[in-house]
Amino acid sequence: MTAQLIDGKALSQKIRAEVAARAAALAARGRRPGLAVILVGDDPASAVYVRNKVRACAESGLHSVMEKYDTALPEAALLERLAALNADPAIHGILVQMPVPRHIDPHRVIEAIDPLKDVDGFSVRSAGELMSGLPGLRPATPWGCMKMIESTGVPVRGRHAVVIGRSNTVGKPMALLLLQASATVTVCHSATPELKRHVQMADIVVAAVGRRHTVTADMVKRGATVIDVGTNHDEAGKLCGDVDFAAVREALGPQGWISPVPGGVGPMTITMLLANTVQAAEACA
Ligand code: GUN
Repeated sequence: MTAQLIDGKALSQKIRAEVAARAAALAARGRRPGLAVILVGDDPASAVYVRNKVRACAESGLHSVMEKYDTALPEAALLERLAALNADPAIHGILVQMPVPRHIDPHRVIEAIDPLKDVDGFSVRSAGELMSGLPGLRPATPWGCMKMIESTGVPVRGRHAVVIGRSNTVGKPMALLLLQASATVTVCHSATPELKRHVQMADIVVAAVGRRHTVTADMVKRGATVIDVGTNHDEAGKLCGDVDFAAVREALGPQGWISPVPGGVGPMTITMLLANTVQAAEACA
């Protein structure tokens, strides 16, 4: 018997229905939640992500605007545009798709967004709120991972979680969310010797590295929960995660849980972005 599947698509549909209901309630009071998505440059993957975000807004009854700029857009022009969106009452969330071209400082861009509209949860203020346990806008991907872990019904409190990856967007906020839920948290990264030794002790594994087969069957404990944040491609060009899915699913056994790629974290990331936009609109209602 293999581990049970954490179906990110099904969970995301359930949460999107709740988000749509909250958006409709706000719209009925004349405050339809609005998201502005900005793309600078012509990275094809970013263009797909941005399109999916805008489409998801329409499907859930949110207002959205998509602004696309040439790679050569000066940083000052982008900051000026952000100032205008900060002042726009129809816009409750602002997102600049990362990465931005090299001549633009991503930190300056993130800090130029009104913290109340920082639906990516990337600003220093949002990060500080998460670290301090204060309410605020949480980064969508790790927040979606928490919802997936909670959906299994297995309690997080007192369990040992191993996060692989230490990015500002996933690894670090993921560790803080798990800590806040009273897990014992280990963060592993590229300089961690003997990754296997850590993962073998984990009740919860979150893999956010961006490298195929980072987590293999010999590394996991039977009965553990494994969340795969990776988006990689195999030799055939097929989308795959950081986890050797079939073999790990087998090794986890019937008490274990595992999220697939695709159909796992991906749909949840956009869903939690919508949830953040509605939360931001509710906060100023
Ligand atoms: N690029 C890849 N993931 C993200 C994300 O969650 N937000 C933004 N703004 N850019 C990204």
